[in-house]
Formats: sequence, structure tokens, C-alpha cells
Amino acid sequence: MRQVKGKYQKRASILALLLLVAVVSFIAVGCSGGATKKKGGESGGRSLTPQEKAQEAQVKDETNPSVLFTYNCGPCHGGDGSGIVGPAIKGTSLTVEQVQNQVENGTTKDGNMLMPAFKNSELSKKQIKLIANYVKNGLK
Ligand code: HEC
Repeated sequence: MRQVKGKYQKRASILALLLLVAVVSFIAVGCSGGATKKKGGESGGRSLTPQEKAQEAQVKDETNPSVLFTYNCGPCHGGDGSGIVGPAIKGTSLTVEQVQNQVENGTTKDGNMLMPAFKNSELSKKQIKLIANYVKNGLK
């Protein structure tokens, strides 16, 4: 994971991490009830998919692009953008606007969601712009 500079930013990322842990454990408790059943036929007690991790993360009101990227995109594209289940996007040839468009609309192929659409998520338009700009100019 990238190191975030500055005391305040460090604290913000720790807070974000705590929030993430709280959300994930809340969900883990919910799932262990066994009541949740997904369309795919999987039942409770499983670990979160990258989609779910990302959708839980979101980090409301966060304005640090590195933190936003790590939690929302990192599960699939890697914290440094070099790719995991999603392709490498570090050094992408897409424009900032195209990246923003991709983040807003995601990708669905043959009815399978490959990348979630973030436009109706907790992320604000401003946060999505911060992320798009970070993908283009901040990934090292
Ligand atoms: C659940 C996994 C997942 C998450 C979370 C995710 N992506 Fe993706 N992303 C993908 C996959 C898979 C593709 C490839 C889709 C395809 O086959 O066209 C993709 C494609 C992209 C592309 C286009 C790459 C190209 O060269 O065409 C960009 C840019 C991108 N993602 C950025 C992001 C950003 C920024 C975030 C965070 C806001 C994010 N993604 C979150 C899985 C994910």
C-alpha cells in the first residue's frame, strides 16, 4: 500500500481503515446468521467478493484520493494500480474523463458485473473526479 504523507492524512487513513473494519465485521456478523443467500447459490459464512469489499468501502466524505483509490479500486486493481482481478490501470492511455466515465458506469458483460458502477454509490461526483485524476496522475 502507498504511504500517505502527513500527520493528518495518516490519521484520516487510519480512521478509514477502522471504518472499513467496522463495516466488514458488521457484515460478517450479518452473514453468519445464514439468512443471506445470493443468486449465485452461495450461502452465508463466505468471505466478501472484491465487488462487495469495494461497495462496502466507499469512505464517505474522504477527500484523500490515495485513500479513496485504495479502498474502492484497490481490491480489484491493486493499491498501486498494477492489476489483480481487474486489469492494470497504472499508466492508462485513457483520459481523465474516460476513467471517470468508467468509474461512474462500471462494466457489465453478459449480465455479469465485472466492475461496479459507482455513480449511485456513496461516492460523490467530486470524489469520483478525485479518483479519476489520481488514476491518471497519482499512481506511481
Ligand atoms: C470488482 C472489481 C473492480 C473494482 C472494485 C473496480 N474495478 Fe475497474 N475494472 C474491473 C474490471 C474487471 C475491468 C475490466 C472490464 C472489461 O473487461 O472491460 C475494469 C476496468 C477498469 C478501467 C478500464 C481499463 C481499460 O484500460 O480499459 C478503469 C480505468 C478502471 N477499471 C478503474 C477503476 C477505478 C478507478 C476503480 C475504483 C473507483 C475501479 N476500477 C474499481 C474491476 C474492478
